[in-house]
Amino acid sequence: MQKEISEIRNEIATLTKGIKARLEYEKSFGITAIKRTEQTTTKQEEEKTTPTTAIKENKQSDIELLSSLKENALKCTLCGLHQTRTNVVFGEGNPNADLMFVGEAPGYYEDVKGLPFVGKAGELLTKIINAIDFKREDIYIANILKCRPPENRNPKPDEIAFCYPYLEKQIDLIKPKIICALGTFAAQSLLNTTESIGRLRGKFHDYHGTKLIATYHPAYLLRNPEEKRKTWEDVQKVRDYLKSF
Ligand code: URA
Ligand code: URA
Repeated sequence: MQKEISEIRNEIATLTKGIKARLEYEKSFGITAIKRTEQTTTKQEEEKTTPTTAIKENKQSDIELLSSLKENALKCTLCGLHQTRTNVVFGEGNPNADLMFVGEAPGYYEDVKGLPFVGKAGELLTKIINAIDFKREDIYIANILKCRPPENRNPKPDEIAFCYPYLEKQIDLIKPKIICALGTFAAQSLLNTTESIGRLRGKFHDYHGTKLIATYHPAYLLRNPEEKRKTWEDVQKVRDYLKSF
C-alpha cells in the first residue's frame, strides 16, 4: 500500500512537471489563457467561417513561429516517448499549404529519418496525394504524435494530451484551407469524438472554422486494399473543394 501511494505521488509529480513545462512553453508564444474547445458547430457557423480568398500567403512571422515551434518540439521531453525515440518527427512541407494531412504517429522509418510518412504507408500516401494532382512539396504532412511509440503501439491518452498542442499550433500557423485526417486517431483527436472512422470518413467536418475530411489510414489500406476506393472518393472531395476557390 505504501509503495502504491509513493508511485502515485511520483506520477503526480511527473504530470505536474509536464503541465508546468507546457504552460511555460505556451507563455513563450504569448499564450496566457487556455482555450475551451467547441464541441459543436452549426452549419451556418461553418459557412460563415469558410475562407473565401483564393490566394493565401502566410505572414513571415508565422513561418518563423513554425520554425521555432519545430525547434521546441525537437527538444521535447514532455512524455515518456522521448526516452525511446531516435528523432522527433515534427512534420514537413509547405508552410503555406492549402492542404494538410494529419496521421497518427511516426513508425520505424519515420523515427530513423525524422520525417513523416517515409515508409510503406508513406509510399501509398504519396500516391494518394499525386492522385489529386498535388505533389508532396505542395502540402504539409504532420502527425498527432511527434515521437514513435515503441513497437508502433497505439498512442496513449497522456501522450496525445502532451503532444496535441504542437499540432494545434502547426494548424494555426499554416492555416490550411482543408485538413485530411488519416485514420482513427487523427480523426478522433481532431474532431474530439469517439465516433468510428467508418462513420467519420467521407464527410466534411469543421475544425475550428477549417474544413476537415477524414479518411482511412494508408497503413489500414495496405492491409485492406478493397477499401482504397472509398479513400479515393474521399480525396476527390478534397480536390473538388480546393478547386472551388
Ligand atoms: N503512419 C503515420 O501515422 N504517420 C507516419 O508518419 C507514418 C506512418
Ligand atoms: N483503424 C484505424 O486505425 N485506421 C483506419 O483508417 C481504419 C481502421
